[in-house]
Amino acid sequence: MEVSRYRPGEDDEPVLQAYDVPLMPDWAVLDGLNYIKDQLDGSLSYRWSCRMGVCGSCGMTVNGEPRLTCGTFLTEYGDGPVRIEPLKGFPVIRDLVVDIDDFLAKLSSVRPWLVREGEDLPLTTEYAQTPEQLEAYKQYSMCINCLLCYSACPVYVLEPDFLGPAAIALAQRYNLDSRDMDDRFDVLNLEDAVWGCTFVGECTQVCPKHVDPAEAIQRYKLTAALRSVLPWSRR
Ligand code: FES
Repeated sequence: MEVSRYRPGEDDEPVLQAYDVPLMPDWAVLDGLNYIKDQLDGSLSYRWSCRMGVCGSCGMTVNGEPRLTCGTFLTEYGDGPVRIEPLKGFPVIRDLVVDIDDFLAKLSSVRPWLVREGEDLPLTTEYAQTPEQLEAYKQYSMCINCLLCYSACPVYVLEPDFLGPAAIALAQRYNLDSRDMDDRFDVLNLEDAVWGCTFVGECTQVCPKHVDPAEAIQRYKLTAALRSVLPWSRR
């Protein structure tokens, strides 16, 4: 494995460091990194937690592509080398660890909660939903915030102010929820939001949970266009 090593402030630029790792048939790339950390070089820094494609913390660039390292097997790359670099588009804190503050701020900016207006009901009030109403937004709720879609997005890499795929898909997760009364028009109908997307579709291609952010964005463009001629239109 060739692993990017970088300490901003100490190193001029990232360098690839080579490590010999056993090619075990059931080892994910993350297992290879853990082998390096445990057996060869304890100073290597990277994030991971669940090891089962749920927490979203182990995203890295594997042989040039954004991948979840716990869900990508070493054997996919033959005898190697397998090159591991941090996700593109994000500042590097150390080695393979990237700064996600900007991403978290973008998620918060779309009001990722159920917005209710004009009612004074107890917090325990239930809002029943049909299976069809659940299905309308369910795919967007599968996002694990792994950042792969941002790293694959050519717009985000060039324009860091772009709201980006996961945040827009998250907004649609609530917009399409029958219990929600907002449409997040003020944060989505912007040049740096849905109108910045050039519909390359890489975000959808790399999503390990089969969310379709490209569809979410195109769909909201239609919503925003309709709303501009029919102001009462919300979905
Ligand atoms: Fe949690 Fe890979 S370690 S998604």
